[in-house]
Amino acid sequence: MDYKLPYLDFVETELQLPVSSNNEHLVIDLFAGCGGLGLGFEAVGFKTIGYEILEDACATYRHNLPSTCHQINLTPSSDLVHGVAAIIGGPPCQPFSVNGNQLGLKDSRDGFPTFISAVERYSPQIVLFENVRGMLFRNKLYFEEIVTYLQNLGYIVEWEILNAAHYGVPQKRERLFCVAHKGGWRWPEKTHLYSPYTTGDALGELAFTAPPDSKFLTKSMDEYIKKYEIASKCINPRDIHLNIPSRTVTCRNLCGATGDMLRLRLPDGRRRRLTVIEGARLQSFPDWFEFKGSESNQFNQIGNAVPPLLGKALARSVKAYLNSGYKQSEEKEFILKRAR
Ligand SMILES: C[S@@+](CC[C@H](N)C(=O)[O-])C[C@H]1O[C@@H](n2cnc3c(N)ncnc32)[C@H](O)[C@@H]1O
Repeated sequence: MDYKLPYLDFVETELQLPVSSNNEHLVIDLFAGCGGLGLGFEAVGFKTIGYEILEDACATYRHNLPSTCHQINLTPSSDLVHGVAAIIGGPPCQPFSVNGNQLGLKDSRDGFPTFISAVERYSPQIVLFENVRGMLFRNKLYFEEIVTYLQNLGYIVEWEILNAAHYGVPQKRERLFCVAHKGGWRWPEKTHLYSPYTTGDALGELAFTAPPDSKFLTKSMDEYIKKYEIASKCINPRDIHLNIPSRTVTCRNLCGATGDMLRLRLPDGRRRRLTVIEGARLQSFPDWFEFKGSESNQFNQIGNAVPPLLGKALARSVKAYLNSGYKQSEEKEFILKRAR
């Protein structure tokens, strides 16, 4: 039998915050946003300290997570908390112009010089960062520069493109995850390979109703979308399909009135855009998680986040790595190298 918990119960159970204890590992969460990744780490018992430039995102982090978030414009010399086991985060990456100006790790507009500098100065046992999958292609040389830098700091560096749907998130969201460790890292096993949760599982009754402040698509939006779908050779209309996981939730398709916007078709034929709670559910935030700030700020926090369920799967692997005496594997690798 293909048994699974109803989606909201699953999220609720998985992302319950444990009662804090004194022996939690401390984690620096850089470019922390609203704490999607942070929530996943807190759910397995880490204590995360967030660093984030935006006031509303910090407020969301502090409101929902037991630990704190410092509002700060991070730079490569920012002071952070000492004694951490891990540094995690989602550094913003400036897309490079095709015609050059590739300053790489010297580009001060970019989050990576700050991230790498924190790793260099605070020497965590393990490092994890997230970025769009395009970083492996459009910014390949820059990515290789980052990998080499981390290797020169004594880490083994591995990366994977993970699909959030394989970890119980009702969304086909592919992102690049990169881990720098000292030996013995294991990527999380997929938890939902054959029967992922669908958009319908996540939205439930909400998908058939129109809240009072619904944003309905206007006639001109309908026409715009039609043209967009023809131009992009879209075979199925890109309205939300309730029987499968949703397409990727981004700031742009939650917030902006674009051809790509996420919208539901109601039983009476009208189409409306998603609400904050619907976007949050598709990203696997539990219903108790409250976003702060204006509606568009809330959409941005949601679209930018690592889905907490995926964050939790990664956090479990980080915990297993820290608890399993990675030093032993380091020794084993050293012995193997000497034997060769
Ligand atoms: C991709 S989002 C991070 C999402 C987060 N990991 C999560 O799971 O919710 C990147 C964040 O970096 C923040 N940011 C950008 N530049 C920053 C800076 N110089 N200092 C601090 N935060 C910054 C942005 O405001 C944004 O919230």
